[in-house]
Amino acid sequence: MTTATAQAQFNGARLNGELLDAACEPYRTAGRFAYHFARGKLRIDPIYRAILESGLLLGRARVLDLGCGQGLLNAWLKAAERCYEHGNWPRAWPPAPLAVTTRGIEMMSRDVARARRAFGTRCEISQADIRNTDFGMVDAVVILDVLHYMPAQAQNEVLQRVRAALRPGGLLLLRVGDADGGLRFRYGQWSDKLVTRLRGHAAPAQYCRSVAQWSDLLHECGFDSEAKPMSRGTPFANVLLIAHAH
Ligand SMILES: C[S@@+](CC[C@H](N)C(=O)[O-])C[C@H]1O[C@@H](n2cnc3c(N)ncnc32)[C@H](O)[C@@H]1O
Repeated sequence: MTTATAQAQFNGARLNGELLDAACEPYRTAGRFAYHFARGKLRIDPIYRAILESGLLLGRARVLDLGCGQGLLNAWLKAAERCYEHGNWPRAWPPAPLAVTTRGIEMMSRDVARARRAFGTRCEISQADIRNTDFGMVDAVVILDVLHYMPAQAQNEVLQRVRAALRPGGLLLLRVGDADGGLRFRYGQWSDKLVTRLRGHAAPAQYCRSVAQWSDLLHECGFDSEAKPMSRGTPFANVLLIAHAH
């Protein structure tokens, strides 16, 4: 390993710790569950690091997070901005997305309450059902592990409305479980049910598709997409579809 590689890895590891601390800090006012849930999820789930390491949201000022839970994406992006501005940033990474406004929509009152206790007025979170809430116009939409909770027709309608909320070239980050993923996929379904219960909700039915089927649906709804595995370090079969509106 070269000195430069070792330095980049050291910076990455140290940054991860600083980012994690900064992102979780607001949840101290939201109760023990909210704080520890944030720490566990942000540490284990590879999507958060990937968003920064690959610069996925760079240049997207208005981000809409559908099914935002307790607002982890907002916490992560705000923490990244602070770390970047303080010069704590790996040289190998692109700059952090700056001055991003994240708006979240979440159906479950307990999660909305946790987010509001953590961020107060520093984040806009609406308690609503994404199947019938106005999305407005935005630069990027993020949907992480949400669409499988609604039947096929509703998935289609939500994605059509997401497309209408974006200009051509607008970005959709859609994370899904790959129904062709065998045991890893089934383990993901089981874990999803368990975590939903831990968060204080009844586990709803799941309406899953293979990655090829999700890509076809995105195409039907006006997106070109590229699929990237997004389960590194976990036993799941999750995939991130990076989709651009055409
Ligand atoms: C597995 S969690 C993921 C939360 C968040 N996206 C994250 O990655 O941390 C799925 C979230 O979607 C929310 N959700 C599911 N269906 C929804 C709907 N129709 N409208 C709004 N939120 C919904 C659930 O309440 C839950 O908080």
